[in-house]
Amino acid sequence: MALARRFLMQSSVAAGVLADPVLALAAFTMPDGRLWPQVKVGNVKDLEQSKPVGFNYPDEKSPAWLVKLSGAAYEGAGPDSNIVAFSAICTHMGCPVEFVGDRFICPCHYSMFDPAKNGQVYQGLASDYLPQIALEIDAAGDIQAVRMSGLVWGRVSDAPVRT
Ligand code: FES
Repeated sequence: MALARRFLMQSSVAAGVLADPVLALAAFTMPDGRLWPQVKVGNVKDLEQSKPVGFNYPDEKSPAWLVKLSGAAYEGAGPDSNIVAFSAICTHMGCPVEFVGDRFICPCHYSMFDPAKNGQVYQGLASDYLPQIALEIDAAGDIQAVRMSGLVWGRVSDAPVRT
C-alpha cells in the first residue's frame, strides 16, 4: 500500500485541503486531531549521496535520518525520487540505527532495513518496518518533514511527546 494511502487510512484530512494540491500533503492530522508538525530538515543542494543528515521528528526526543540514496526509493522525494527520511530508532528494542552502504543497520542485534523499500526489514530480529517520514520539497529546494508512518519504537501513539 502506498505510503500516502496508508496515511489517508490512518489519519483524517482537514476539511477542504484536497481541493488544493499545494496543501493536500501538508494538512494531515494525527489520530488525536492535532496536525503533524512541519519541520524544515535541509535543502536539496546541501545533500550528498549516501551521507545522512540527522534531525528530530515528530518531536525533539525522536531522532531521524534524512538521506539521499543512490537510486529511486519508494515514496522518495526530489527530482530523482531518491531523498528519504526515517526514524533513527530500531523497531526491535530501540537502539539507534546507522546508515551504511545504502541501508540502515542496527548495531545491537544487526537488524537491517531497506530505505528504498519503505524501511522494510530484510535481516535480523526487528519485526516491523522502520517508520518512514514523508517529505515535501518546495521551489527553493527546502525539504520539509510533514508526517510519519508507523510508530516510533516505545511509543503508543504517533503524537509528538509533550514537553
Ligand atoms: S535493537 Fe535493533 S536489532 Fe535489536
